[in-house]
Amino acid sequence: MEGNQDQNMLREQAREIIREEPWYVSALSNISAAIMQNMPGLNWVGFYLMRDGRLTVGPFQGKPACIHIPVGKGVCGTAAEKNETIVVPDVHAFPGHIACDGASRSEIVVPIRSGGEVIGVLDLDSPRENRFTEQDRGALEALVREIEASVCWET
Ligand code: SME
Repeated sequence: MEGNQDQNMLREQAREIIREEPWYVSALSNISAAIMQNMPGLNWVGFYLMRDGRLTVGPFQGKPACIHIPVGKGVCGTAAEKNETIVVPDVHAFPGHIACDGASRSEIVVPIRSGGEVIGVLDLDSPRENRFTEQDRGALEALVREIEASVCWET
């Protein structure tokens, strides 16, 4: 993905999806599908949401995934603990990486916050090594800002 236009495209799509229905199950489901359709070279895209103190799988696209990830474990749990985006060019070189899909080679995880607290993460996996660029990171962080601003987290 290259340039600001593409960066804004994902955010715009998320905005439209949330405008139609802000309830998190609908919104995050369609957002994961939109990312999978628009970013080439992915094998898993989805959300883990904080529930009872651990990350629990939410709406996603891809193979069935690990259901629970403790904070501090794997790439997702590390991003949640540090409260920062983590880009892993080669998952085999990341100690503690949790392999849900053996095809995954690179990964990016962006924390989702509410009132400064991490309430979940957006996780993308690719079968290609070093798939995620700085532009991708910018685009996905902008998309997450949109989620934080507008998604309704109530049941
Ligand atoms: N690889 C992740 C686990 C989630 S799956 O990739 C869907 C991790 O290490 O946290």
